[in-house]
Amino acid sequence: MSSVYHRLLSDEKPSNSRDDLESDVGEVIAARSSSKKRALMRVAGFAAFGLSLLTNAYFLGVNSRSSAVTCSSRGQDPVWGVTEPLYSPAQSVVKYEHRVFDKLGVRTPYHTPYDDATDELWRNLYDMGIQKITKDQAALLPNWTEPIPGDEGHYVVSLNVFHQLHCLNYLRMALYPERYGPAEQFGPPLLEGDPTPFDHTDHCVNIIREGITCNADITPDVWQWDERRKMAFPHFDSVHDCRNWDAIVDWAKERKIEDRWDTSIHVGHDHHHHL
Ligand SMILES: *[C@@H]1O[C@H](CO)[C@@H](O)[C@H](O)[C@H]1NC(C)=O
Repeated sequence: MSSVYHRLLSDEKPSNSRDDLESDVGEVIAARSSSKKRALMRVAGFAAFGLSLLTNAYFLGVNSRSSAVTCSSRGQDPVWGVTEPLYSPAQSVVKYEHRVFDKLGVRTPYHTPYDDATDELWRNLYDMGIQKITKDQAALLPNWTEPIPGDEGHYVVSLNVFHQLHCLNYLRMALYPERYGPAEQFGPPLLEGDPTPFDHTDHCVNIIREGITCNADITPDVWQWDERRKMAFPHFDSVHDCRNWDAIVDWAKERKIEDRWDTSIHVGHDHHHHL
């Protein structure tokens, strides 16, 4: 891909890698704690960092803010300064808003204990089926996709955020075999006849890794003095720039293919795809 990425602000240093960030967290802890508290804080800091990753994973789809403000596949993106943002047929519904993440320790309906209502909530996050877009929109995609047999003016897509959420839900369930059974029994392996156990769980961990690093939420989490603990403590209920979630869900629901799509019919397409 040939997209050129510019830094957000000219006076900013290039962002740290994840490993740098982890050692930064360690250094902050070391500098701010007495040696007595240091070991405990290190554990707390890494646990907190892990938690923040999980929290981000929950909101994967709504934190992302790459391009997508205009309907053109070319031109300067005003938010990120990407010279050639890739086209998405959903870009016209993207709206940005401020959102405060949940406070550490506050249980939401997405948390344990899990019951049928929790499962339903999670499923509703991604259960959007497959979407149809017009042939003209399909021609703007950097990757080609299939037309619908019998309705060749329309092509199929599904938005990646819903797949990421499916995977996060898969992992959530894999963590609770006492309720959901062993993950190996959730479905057939993704790769038929793979001698190594490249299972769905493995795939889901990796796709979430790719999603998190791709969307790279740079919202600073802050450290604030905690009177009860008598120490500075990290907070994840900071305010983020997020994509409005309902608008993206509405986009998907409005375009959901209701009829059966016969994937065994090969129609082919006649347009070219350029980056
Ligand atoms: C999508 O396009 C990129 C860039 O040309 C290419 O590397 C990738 O293999 C393509 N994937 C598919 C599924 O077409």
